[in-house]
Parts: sequence; C-alpha cells; structure tokens
Amino acid sequence: MQIGIFDSGVGGLIVARAIHKLMPEYDYVYLGDTKRVPYGNHSAKVVYEFTRQGVEYLFNKEHCGIVVVACNTASALALRKLQKNLKNRKILGVLIPAAEEAAKFRRVGVLGTIGTVASGVFPAEIKKLDKRVQVFQNPAPVLVPLAEAGERARAMPFIKEYLEPLLKQKINALVLGCTHYPIFKREIKKIAGKKVKIISQDEIVPKKLKNYLARHPEITKKLSKNRKVKILVTDLTKTTDELTKKWFGGNTKPQLINLKY
Ligand code: DGL
Repeated sequence: MQIGIFDSGVGGLIVARAIHKLMPEYDYVYLGDTKRVPYGNHSAKVVYEFTRQGVEYLFNKEHCGIVVVACNTASALALRKLQKNLKNRKILGVLIPAAEEAAKFRRVGVLGTIGTVASGVFPAEIKKLDKRVQVFQNPAPVLVPLAEAGERARAMPFIKEYLEPLLKQKINALVLGCTHYPIFKREIKKIAGKKVKIISQDEIVPKKLKNYLARHPEITKKLSKNRKVKILVTDLTKTTDELTKKWFGGNTKPQLINLKY
C-alpha cells in the first residue's frame, strides 16, 4: 500500500518532496486537484465535497494505507468531518503540526487562504494548546494563483501588504498556513526579519508523519517500500508539468486522471 498525499493543486508538492526526502523508502501517490484549484475561496460545503472525492480516490483506486491532506484549506474545513465519515481510514492533516509549533510562541501571525482564516481553526487549535498565545491572522489569497502560474517574481508587493498588519502586532512567529506559501519563504523572511520565526509545514510535517508511522505499526506494516512516486492531477497543462519538476524535482511526470463526481 502507498502513502497518499492530497492537495488542491501542485503547491502541496513542496510538503510531498520533504516527506519523500525524509522517508524515500516508501511508495507515494500524490493527487493535486489542479482542475478546481484554488479551494481557498470556496464554501466549507464545497471544500468538503472536493476533498472527499480526492481522498476517496486515493483510498479506493490507489489503495493507499494512509492519506495526508496537505492542503490547509481542506484540513481546516473538511478534515474532521472526513475522519468521522471515513471511519476505517487513516487521514492526517497539516494544520495541527503547525499549531503545535506555533503554541511555543506568544504572539503568532497566521497567513492563510480566505477559507482557512475565516474558519478560525488555526487560532482555535493554537489556543487549545496554550490559551496565553495571541494569534493574529491575515488572508493572503493572491499568493496561490501567483505560485500556480509560476509568477514568484511578482509576489513581493503582495507579501509586503499581507505581512504589514501582522508585523504591526509585533509577532514573534509566523505560520505559513497554506501549501503554496513556502515557495515565497525567502521573500517572507526578508520582510519579516530575523526576529520572526517562520513556521513552515515542509519543515514540520515530515517529522510528525515519521513519528506517527513509528507509533502505528498496524499501518506501517502494510506500506510497500519500492521507492516509487506517482503524481496525479485532474488537469494537465505545460505549467503543471514544469512546476511538478521544479517543486518535486527529478524526472517526475504528472499523469492526468478523471475524478468521478
Ligand atoms: N492548498 C491550499 C491550502 O493550503 C492552497 C490553495 C487553494 O486555495 O486551494 O490552503
């Protein structure tokens, strides 16, 4: 059985690459719903439906033993319900690992999609761990289409604008609460300055997943170890192809699939 990784687009490949780097022995299948990205502007109902279809595909068609929902919007708006409805399936998100890291600080900024920020899930999860933490959020929606279009160079003015209200709050940590934001890590660090700790899921999730697998031999023993990686997308363009190579690396070629709705 493979390890499934689901995202709304190709941004999640940044987390997938980091997971693969830490545990290259396993077989992976990544599914990016590139036909319907971005999820961040949709209602919770629609995000749940899209996520359910993608995650069920990974379990039913790809026979995954575990699925990581690498999308923050889906983790915020759909994960709990999905875990409840697909009872016998192991589904992990990327939000709690970042919240655990954030709870070590006192003034935390969160950048996310409109959906993630509106859900209030990040502040709620951080405060559950330590209610003294003050959390300030700001949606940064334009960064997702810029990343998916390979337009990193144009992002600086938007990053400045999105970070300004958070930096005014004298934050000492900043959660990159969206799969795509690590792409702009260098620019974000430059504006946030050395005193702000950047919490980036590609640096946290792989270790958490490794620990989780070590604690759950009933899952781990079913996972195959042939070092294979498959990347599936619901729409395939030249940009998808280029970004897959850039963000995952190697000779990975995305394959087009049809999600039955
Ligand atoms: N993958 C999404 C997330 O992490 C970002 C892109 C989107 O809006 O779908 O929130």
